[in-house]
Amino acid sequence: MTEGNSVAELRENAQKTLLALKKLNGKGLVDRILKVSGLAHAAIMRAALSLQEEKLIRLHEEKQTTITLSEEGRRYAQKGLPERRLIQWLVKLEGEASVENAVKKARLEKNTATIALGWLHRKGWAKLDKKKRMLRTLKEPMIGNDEKLLSLLYEKGSFVGEDLSKELQKAVQALKRRRLVEVDEKTLRELELTDAGWRLVKRGIEIVEEVSQVTPELIITGGWRKARLRKFDVTAPGPSVYPGKVHPLQQIIQMVREAFLEMGFTEIRGPIVQTAFWNFDALFQPQDHPAREMMDTFYLAQPKKGGLPRNDVVDKVAKTHETGWVTGSRGWEYLWSPEEAQRLILRTHTTAVTVHYLAEHKEPPVKVFSVDRIYRNEKVDYKHLAELHQIEGIVMDKGVTLRDLIGTLKEFYLKLGLKKVQFWPSYFPYTEPSAQAVFYIPKLKAWVELCGMGLFRPEVLAPLGIEHPVLAWGGGLERLAMIRLGVDDIRFLYKNDLGWIRRTPLCQR
Ligand code: PHE
Repeated sequence: MTEGNSVAELRENAQKTLLALKKLNGKGLVDRILKVSGLAHAAIMRAALSLQEEKLIRLHEEKQTTITLSEEGRRYAQKGLPERRLIQWLVKLEGEASVENAVKKARLEKNTATIALGWLHRKGWAKLDKKKRMLRTLKEPMIGNDEKLLSLLYEKGSFVGEDLSKELQKAVQALKRRRLVEVDEKTLRELELTDAGWRLVKRGIEIVEEVSQVTPELIITGGWRKARLRKFDVTAPGPSVYPGKVHPLQQIIQMVREAFLEMGFTEIRGPIVQTAFWNFDALFQPQDHPAREMMDTFYLAQPKKGGLPRNDVVDKVAKTHETGWVTGSRGWEYLWSPEEAQRLILRTHTTAVTVHYLAEHKEPPVKVFSVDRIYRNEKVDYKHLAELHQIEGIVMDKGVTLRDLIGTLKEFYLKLGLKKVQFWPSYFPYTEPSAQAVFYIPKLKAWVELCGMGLFRPEVLAPLGIEHPVLAWGGGLERLAMIRLGVDDIRFLYKNDLGWIRRTPLCQR
């Protein structure tokens, strides 16, 4: 608004904010204005934005870091850092002592002792002879900035980051890494009247109450004619609200389910514990296949063995592995062992579930999917988990082909918002032809695998008595979730970082 406009056009909250600023001699932090005006924080912030737009105030923002001791930090501030306690005793013991003795004298608990030894070394105060487990002092253990900061904080309670010297600021970082201090960042906002703002408040502001709800009474009495109705700016930022909601990963699982259901698939589920028979043998994976090794697969210790299906199915699977049976293949040419097939494992893929379902549903058409947990004996890192989810689907029908499979998957991933999907040749022991669906991630400048796919081989179908072609595919769910949620470390999906869970939109579509 320009200066010519009447004061009455300002909204009530803006008027109250201006009056508070006048009382504060033209300038004040939001917290101060809150006390003087009695307005809520969010109300002041909204008023500030419109007043700023009308050039009646200036808004200054400043980041402020506050440093306080953590609980552990407070303990160390009282008793001394573990390395200080240890070195003091080492000095008392004439500069040389066994680790055991020094630790005992310094009364350090076991995990604190390890920390103390580590820091003695890093600070160069003492040397540890690892073989003899002997400690010897190296140089005078001067009081470091970290210790100075600890005692200052202990005296004062807290510090504003900017008030500290450069050295002490470095010490803050060091202590933060040791989790001895907590660093809290917040933005301070200060409002200041402009010249125009001053002129306005000097002319006088009279607060006119605003009506934010038109009641039946206002209408009946005709009071609405005189009332000042509050204007709502629907584009003004409101306070953030964090309602309870479904975990982002569960939202993705739900999305995947919906995509399958929309495409006419039915969901199936199967047991997590499977015999090697359904996980491997029925899928024509030879018994010496590397994927079967302990390093890759979790075997059950108790019970070790499970039951096999009807004899004729087992016989046919055995013959196919050994000689190829009627499939036209030569098989793997080894002696198939029923004991190996009976071993119980945590399923390594959900193909164990779909192939088992197929064995019991031989009539076309079959169109089923599963989204479920699988287990792999992997070292956990940013790309790998030992327990994760797989998306799996099969279609069995007369005359279906690779083109149907590619079309189905294109449509499926499109429903999940992935447009740039390609299909590359690949290999699986149980499919021919085999392919993989890949997706391009610009940020990584790389194509990542979404799923493996193919048509089940005759060596899989014949023993089960399936007479029509079967399209099959399976792939990681977490991969997809990472792409959708913009997460680049798979472990993060399970860390349940509250900030991340709050920030992730309620609706993934
Ligand atoms: N089971 C395969 C995997 O775990 C994926 C796959 C499923 C491949 C079905 C082909 C057919 O990677």
